[in-house]
Amino acid sequence: MTAEKRIVLSSDHAAIELRQAIAKHIAAQGWDVEDIGPVTTESTHYPLHGKAAAERVASGDCHFGIVVCGTGQGIMMAANKVQGIRCGVCAETFSARMIRAHNDANMLALGARVVGEGLALEIVDAFLETEFEGGRHATRVEMIEG
Ligand code: RB5
Repeated sequence: MTAEKRIVLSSDHAAIELRQAIAKHIAAQGWDVEDIGPVTTESTHYPLHGKAAAERVASGDCHFGIVVCGTGQGIMMAANKVQGIRCGVCAETFSARMIRAHNDANMLALGARVVGEGLALEIVDAFLETEFEGGRHATRVEMIEG
């Protein structure tokens, strides 16, 4: 399978169950899932996992990345420190569509202590189903990169 269909998943200890549910959900849709853990609930550090996932996307080896921590905020901040990453944290589907359509987001962050599994999977679907609109939005996205 090509990188076009590959998604990297990562989380911290607060979000392992949700990450695994997302992995199962998107694998069933035909995505090639690269789940880089962690596998135990031992306390760990979300910046490490956000950065590791972001590097898989920035390298071009994965088309998208989905990262999860307690709120989604910390792991999103860590991912966005990697050049070329545009990661948004979403707690509803409208924003998940808009970060693809207008911001060409290549990563999605979720908070396992914020959204339940059902809503999280709907947010993931909204993100993955939405195409970037380009046009005037492309100019603005280029400005983000500096
Ligand atoms: C871990 O307790 C928690 O701080 C982390 O999962 C996340 O919410 C940070 O942004």
